[in-house]
Parts: sequence; C-alpha cells; structure tokens
Amino acid sequence: MEDLSTLNSFGLHVNAKSVYRIRSLADLRSAPSDHALILGRGSDILLTDDYDGNVLVNCITDTRFSEDGDFNVVRCGGGRELDSLIGELVSRGISGLENLSAIPGTVGAAPVQNVGAYGVEIGSAIASVDYFDLDRREFGTIKGEDCGFGYRTSWFKEHPERRLFITEVEFRLKKGFHPVLSYKGLVDTALDTPYKIRERVIKLRREKLPDPSVVGSAGSFFKNPVVGEDQAALLQRSYPDIPLYPLGGGRVKLAAGWLIDRAGCRGITHGNAGTWDKQALVIVNRGNAKPHEIVALAKYVSIEVFRRFGIKLEPEVRIYGRRGEITWDQI
Ligand code: EPU
Repeated sequence: MEDLSTLNSFGLHVNAKSVYRIRSLADLRSAPSDHALILGRGSDILLTDDYDGNVLVNCITDTRFSEDGDFNVVRCGGGRELDSLIGELVSRGISGLENLSAIPGTVGAAPVQNVGAYGVEIGSAIASVDYFDLDRREFGTIKGEDCGFGYRTSWFKEHPERRLFITEVEFRLKKGFHPVLSYKGLVDTALDTPYKIRERVIKLRREKLPDPSVVGSAGSFFKNPVVGEDQAALLQRSYPDIPLYPLGGGRVKLAAGWLIDRAGCRGITHGNAGTWDKQALVIVNRGNAKPHEIVALAKYVSIEVFRRFGIKLEPEVRIYGRRGEITWDQI
C-alpha cells in the first residue's frame, strides 16, 4: 500500500495499491493500468477512502514552442505544472493565459475541469488534446472544438467511463497582447503587460485563497450555481446586495462563496475541516483532517445554503471512493 497524502492537495492520508510515475509514452504503455486512477497533482479532487487499485501520476512535461501565422503554438506535456507553463509563456512575452496564474494543478488536468479564473477559461486557448485510452490501449486526439468546454466542465469530465490519460495539450495563442481585465480586481490601466497581470493575479489569489504549500484544500469546493432570472429576481428582493452575474438566455450565475458566507458558514470548523475565513467557498484541512470530516463539513454547508436560500450546491471537485469516481449524492 502507498500513501497518497502528497498526491492530493487536501493532504488526506489515504492509500492506493501502488503509485506509478509516468514520464514517457513508453512508461504509459507498460504501466499496470487496470482500474488505475489517473492523477496530475491531485489539486481538484477529494479522496474519500483508500483506492482499491493503482495510481498513475502524470509526469510528462516536455514542452515545444512554434509559430503558425498569427498564432504561437505551444505543445505541452500533461504532467507539467500549469503555473510553470504560464510563467514561461509570460517570460517569452506570450499573452493569453496570464489570468490563470497560480492555479495549482497540471496542464493535463486543466482541460478536464476547463479551469478558469479572472475572466479567462483555459478551453478558449486549447487547439487539441492528445490522450492514451487505458482500456482500449490506443492513442488519440480530440480537437478543442470537440472538447465540450463549459463552466468547470468538459467532454472528459462528463465521460468518466473513458479513462483517458492526457499526454499532451496543444495551445494556440494569438500573437500580441490581449488583456482581459473585466474582473473587478484587474480593472486598472497600469496592467499593460502579461507579466504585470500575472503579478496582480498572484497577489489577488494570495489575499483570498490559502497558500497551497501550507494549508490543504482543493480550491473552490462547490461550483457557482446557475439559476433562472425569476429566481434571481426573487433572491435580489430579499437580499439586495446578492452578487448576480447574468449569463444571457434567462440564466444568472450566483456566487456560491457569498451564499455560504451569508448562510453563516464562513470560517467554521468541524473536527479538523473548515471553511476558509477569507473565501467561504474553499474547504480546508486544518491539520490531519480525515476524509469523513471534509465530507461532513461540505454536507453541512450545502444543507445550510439550501435551508437559507433553497439552492442546491454541486461540488466543483471530483470525488473518488474505493473503486473510482462517485457522485455527491452517493456519499
Ligand atoms: N464572496 C463573499 N464571501 C465569501 C466569498 C465570496 O461575499 O466568503 C463574494 C465576493 O465578495 C464576490 C463573490 O462572492 O462578490 C464572488 O467571489 P470571488 O470573486 O472570490 O469569486 P468566486 O466566484 O468565489 C471563482 C472561481 C475561483 C476563481 C475566482 C476568480 C468557481 C467555483 N470559483 O470564485 O476558482 O479563482 O472566481 O475568478 O468558479 C477554483 O475553481 O478552485 C477557484 C479558486
């Protein structure tokens, strides 16, 4: 049995049979992959139990840069830290992903969740995703437009039965500087280079989110819920300061962090689990938490939000049990 505490950002002590670090396509072909769980850095998962199988950790990091007309083309191994890639892009003067600075996790995991922050989602820059299908034992490629990118979701996330190990991601980034400064902390004309945006984003994240090297968490635990305009208008009547983000088509996104905060759940503790006092959407391991403590706290938070606002929160993290992925309602 091998301990997975350094392979999940919550830092939970759960075990798997064995851990295999995959550094090349040859490693991938020879790894014992029956029922294996694929991990990047485990930054967006909750492991609720020991895993009854092996773990394959994506450590493929090769990166190649080229140009194609108006675009910079970057092919990056799925095991590279996303922030390490973004740091290199910014130092090369390549713009497009700087708003996603300091997000923990790997390049290969990024398309699965379609990671996003400060007005940018990674899917918008992805040209294609290369994978190895662990069950069919074949390599393949999915074009960006076929990845089904949506808010914190993708075709990959919606098809967990296809166990695809993401070997490489191709990004196409339009040449020139294309700042996205719509988020309130970025509305600032002095942010005139990708480097300055990156520095500001890192500062904003440090102010609100726990330092992943010190406090275990998986970032936002829940997704921001989307409701109809009528329900949003009713909520606004009772809570005039509720943040609302109209999406068009009669849909409105709510801020889960605000709902949790106003349900009285910011900075609370249950055993060794808690919600972060500067951002209630983040559930943290306050030291030696057990999986059941994280689950109990998350269930409590979702019940309180439902009691207060009649809104059902859905997790943003992916949840795994002994035999693989499980749904929120199964635990
Ligand atoms: N708010 C509160 N109390 C809180 C937390 C938030 O009142 O405890 C309010 C804020 O004041 C703000 C609103 O809720 O008016 C939204 O909060 P924030 O701007 O911090 O963003 P978020 O919607 O909570 C999302 C992403 C983050 C991403 C930020 C910035 C999701 C689930 N989360 O958070 O992503 O960094 O926007 O773009 O979409 C992650 O996915 O792990 C993550 C950290």
